[in-house]
Order: sequence, then C-alpha cells, then structure tokens
Amino acid sequence: MRIVIQSDASAVAAFAAREIANQVAYKPHSCLGLATGGTPVGAYRELIQIHRTSHLSFANVTTFNLDEYVGLTANHPCSYRTFMNEHLFSHLDIPLNQTFVPIGDASDLVTECIAYEERIGLAGGIDLQLLGIGSDGHIAFNEPGSSLGSRTRVKTLLQQTRIDNARFFDSMDLVPTSAITMGIGTILDSKAILLIACGEGKAEAIAGAAEGPLSASLPASSLQMHPCVTLVVDESAASGLMRADYYRMSERERHRLEVGTGQ
Ligand code: F6R
Repeated sequence: MRIVIQSDASAVAAFAAREIANQVAYKPHSCLGLATGGTPVGAYRELIQIHRTSHLSFANVTTFNLDEYVGLTANHPCSYRTFMNEHLFSHLDIPLNQTFVPIGDASDLVTECIAYEERIGLAGGIDLQLLGIGSDGHIAFNEPGSSLGSRTRVKTLLQQTRIDNARFFDSMDLVPTSAITMGIGTILDSKAILLIACGEGKAEAIAGAAEGPLSASLPASSLQMHPCVTLVVDESAASGLMRADYYRMSERERHRLEVGTGQ
C-alpha cells in the first residue's frame, strides 16, 4: 500500500486529479470507477480544470459509480446520478451514455445489481477506482460486517452513515435507508485503487485501513489485499497513523529513485 500524506484537502484533491488525468492520458479508453460524497468534489473540480487547460479528452472514457441510493430516481436532486452530472460529467466531453450509476429505483433491484456487474465486465473491468472512506471504515456502501468477497448488491445503511449524509438532504427522514453498492470483491477486482480522505473524522478509519488487522469490521482494511492501492490523506486524516514518518520517507525515496516503491 502506498500512503501519501499531503498538507491539506486541496493538495489531496490536486494529487487525485493528477492520478486520474495520468490514467486517461496513458489510456484514453480507460474505465474509471468513481465515488460521490464531499471528499471527491475538489478532485473533480481539479480534473475539470485539467480537461480545460490541457485539453485532456474524456470522450472515450467509460465510468462506473460505486453506489446509488435505493428509491431515488436518477433525476432526484439528491441522487448520485445528479451529483455526478453536476460535479463532473456535464463539465467534460464524456458522452453520458458512457457513464454508469446503479439505477436506484429499478423495479427489480437484484437484476439491476447483476446487470451492473455484467456491464463492468463488458467494459473490460475498472482500470482505476477512486474511493472515499466512511468514518466507520466503509468503502462504497460496504458497511462494517460486509463480506470481503461481496459483489454489487443492496445494503442497508448504518444509522451513522445516514447521519453523516443527512447534510445533503433537507431532513434526516429523507435520507434513504438502503443503497445499491459495488461489493468489496467488485472493488478489489479493479486494476488500481486510489482512496482519498481528509479531516480528523477520518483518522481512525485511515489508521485501521492501513495499519489495523484485515477485518470485515473495517471494510477498508480489505485494501491491504490489493497489490496496487494508493491512500492519499491530509495531515488530519493521517494523524492516527503509527508509521507516518516511514510513509513520508518512502515518498521521498520514491521521488529520489524515481521508481514505484511503497506498495
Ligand atoms: C460514495 C461512497 C462513500 C463515501 C464515504 C465518504 O460514493 O461510496 O463510501 O466515499 O461515505 O463520504 P464523504 O466523502 O462525504 O466523507
């Protein structure tokens, strides 16, 4: 696991945007896995900037979002489809029919989950998956206790997750109780994973993900199993890491040797 500690949230956003842009520049037909929530907003803003200033095209990119609330229509103001259109897709040259978000109001949710997995497979699998992390260590909506081998399915949201996400809704009662989410197994099938986290509220989850035991009780710890994971965190989110000095040294070595150490 590579752990990159940045000074603040804007440096995390810039780093993440550069990684995504490099992936698309290297492989214009990339398949990207994308996340919603507060953390990626800055990275998407930076990516839009790169698209405009460097003329990086997303015309051949395909994207798959991690999750969507059950019961919300695609055009609901709080749906993740709306979030992605507003924060990213409408600012890029990517055709909307190459962007996939699970259909939260599908009449048959089980069929939708199976179809989502199939669509990812048909696209050739995800080249780079962007992740945030919940304060309880969830990735996508794989709440603590999720099977480490899980695939796309419906998950009930923990009350804490609903409270954390209530800021996007007019009232707590309106926060859905379930979501369609890629599974941990789905995420681990990605060729590379980039997890971003900012703020003290994420410190415990980041420490558990990077340095805790592998456990379904902290879903992000499953990333320890993957050969190509980068965690990019600000100083506050890094504050619980026991080996922070080592990670900083490892990054310096990486730049000095110009090789990919640190996984
Ligand atoms: C969103 C997602 C969630 C968030 C996590 C952190 O698509 O999959 O796992 O990444 O809840 O959310 P923020 O960034 O709002 O703290």
